[in-house]
Amino acid sequence: MYQPQYNYGMIGLGTMGCNLVLNMCDHGYSIAGYDKDEKKVTQLLALGEDKKIGGFTDIALFVAALESPKVVMLLVPAGVIVDAVLSDLMPFLKANDVVVDCGNSHFTDTQRRILTLANDGIHFMGLGVSGGETGARFGPSIMPGGNVTAYNKIAPMLQAIAAKVDGGEACTAYMGQGAAGHYVKMVHNGIEYANMQMLAEAYHLLKIYAKQSNVQIHSIFNNWNKGRLQSYLVEISAAIFLQKDDLADGMLIDGIKDTAKQKGTGAWMSQDAMAIGAAIPAIDAAVCARILSSLKIERVAAANLFKNDEEIQVCKDVDTFITLLEEALYAAFILTYAQGLSMLQKASDTYKYEINIATVASIWRGGCIIRAAMLNDIMKAYTDEPKLINMLTSLTFKDVVNSCTASLRKVVLLAVKSGTPVPSFCNNLQYFDSYKSAWLPANLVQAQRDFFGAHTYERLDIEGIFHTKWGE
Ligand code: 6PG
Repeated sequence: MYQPQYNYGMIGLGTMGCNLVLNMCDHGYSIAGYDKDEKKVTQLLALGEDKKIGGFTDIALFVAALESPKVVMLLVPAGVIVDAVLSDLMPFLKANDVVVDCGNSHFTDTQRRILTLANDGIHFMGLGVSGGETGARFGPSIMPGGNVTAYNKIAPMLQAIAAKVDGGEACTAYMGQGAAGHYVKMVHNGIEYANMQMLAEAYHLLKIYAKQSNVQIHSIFNNWNKGRLQSYLVEISAAIFLQKDDLADGMLIDGIKDTAKQKGTGAWMSQDAMAIGAAIPAIDAAVCARILSSLKIERVAAANLFKNDEEIQVCKDVDTFITLLEEALYAAFILTYAQGLSMLQKASDTYKYEINIATVASIWRGGCIIRAAMLNDIMKAYTDEPKLINMLTSLTFKDVVNSCTASLRKVVLLAVKSGTPVPSFCNNLQYFDSYKSAWLPANLVQAQRDFFGAHTYERLDIEGIFHTKWGE
């Protein structure tokens, strides 16, 4: 075992931790790995036999083996485990050491830990990592935030291990102050939820309304992936439709239960959107869709009680429908990114993160789950107009949005008419229709609030706050 002072330490040697260690070693860094589970340590040492890796199950020895100031990375499940690890680790750290949480921690936990560790002069950083197992091993998108001095210390390593786009641009950059890194990762995940849901809705329509087989749906997704919808999620969805089932006859997709689980980052985004007053209905719908999918027993019972008021029509012109659906998806993806990124801007202002949205779009172009060709346009939109409030109104997107939303409307109408649920498509359209309404009926809501609760209202013609004794 290589035994000098190691450049970095990694606590948590599960799949993600282990792969990140191997990735760092490939770029010339020496790493000490720590896990309470001896098997995981042994496994890492076996996988990294030819690399500068040390393995530890004793935290004191682990920290002592790191060069100073020490940089300890954590890849453990979010929540109480992070706090437990920190309380084990803290007695061995000193001022100027750095702790980097690479898990999907809640941004408020990260903010609390930044303040607690700062009492001892220790820098705590929240760092979002996206790309799953393969990304961690060969190049994820990395979203670091927090203390700038600590960031500068690890920046060259992050740039080395991150995914590269455009012939070498690293998919990592400083995201902003405080918990900005984990906040950006949470927004990434909310967009991930909505994009996945919309692809599932497109699959639903292709399967039930357009009566397409798995092989046909594969080829439709595959073609989409060659055009403006090109993205990792479209690519893997195409591959999924061709996967044979090892345990039964047929395709694996047909054998998988129709209930989706979640670890919570999508719901966190919806919760904080409500807290800061940001509208992200497409993402909210995707979180709710997972919850509804999990009610399998109730859904089956309800399916026997209620029938569709209109039977699902069979699609007569499949080619035209596929063209329509592609355009609807494109519009819906743009609308989803618009919601996610305007929430991110609002959060940055609220929490004083100082996030640059063009930079965020730029580092999402490679390595992460939501990487997509359209992120080049999103990056351009925010680079050309740095003060952009909503990317829908940008020079890059306004004409595209104007033309593509007509197809989204047609797809939603068709789905609603046949009783096919398309919650994220639908909420994207509703967001668009609300956002572009110069007038909304909220005057009635103001009046109602004032009527029953004397909450006052504002007028269009005169400045100030008004109250009326209604009915008098
Ligand atoms: C990523 C992913 C990842 C996330 C999974 C599962 O960017 O690599 O977002 O961090 O944990 O996608 O999330 P859910 O269990 O909530 O679907």
